[in-house]
Amino acid sequence: MNKTLSIIKPDATSRNITGAINSIIEKEGIKIIAQKRIKLSKEQASEFYKIHEDKPFFNDLIEYMTSGAVIVQVLQGDDVINKYREIMGATNPEKAKEGTIRKKFALSIQENAVHGSDSSENAGNEINFFFKENEIIT
Ligand code: CMP
Repeated sequence: MNKTLSIIKPDATSRNITGAINSIIEKEGIKIIAQKRIKLSKEQASEFYKIHEDKPFFNDLIEYMTSGAVIVQVLQGDDVINKYREIMGATNPEKAKEGTIRKKFALSIQENAVHGSDSSENAGNEINFFFKENEIIT
């Protein structure tokens, strides 16, 4: 699997830093092969984050993810799932390494600027969640 699903989250779209994030992605040699700006419904966000539905932060997460625009994108590159997770940095920005997107831009563990798929299986499912085959130009 040389593709992964990325989401630029509402805290980042509202601060007008989506270009800055895309610039980091592209400088790392990763290609953005599909991209759209959308507003998630509560149903979509709840379905997307279903694996977290028992977590204490689930309701806040759904409120936040539906609070504004997000940019969903398909990224392509060698070992891109792992590579993008490295570039994003740790979920908690306090633990993210220098130079990562979250270290640079995340506001908190929740408002952490970006999402990236964490496995090959999830990447496939998450890409199919947002994109039709003919919307992805490899
Ligand atoms: P993400 O990588 O998209 O996966 C699940 C999201 O839930 C995560 O980024 C954060 O936005 C949010 N999240 C994860 N852990 C916590 C937490 N402990 N408290 C609040 N939000 C969290």
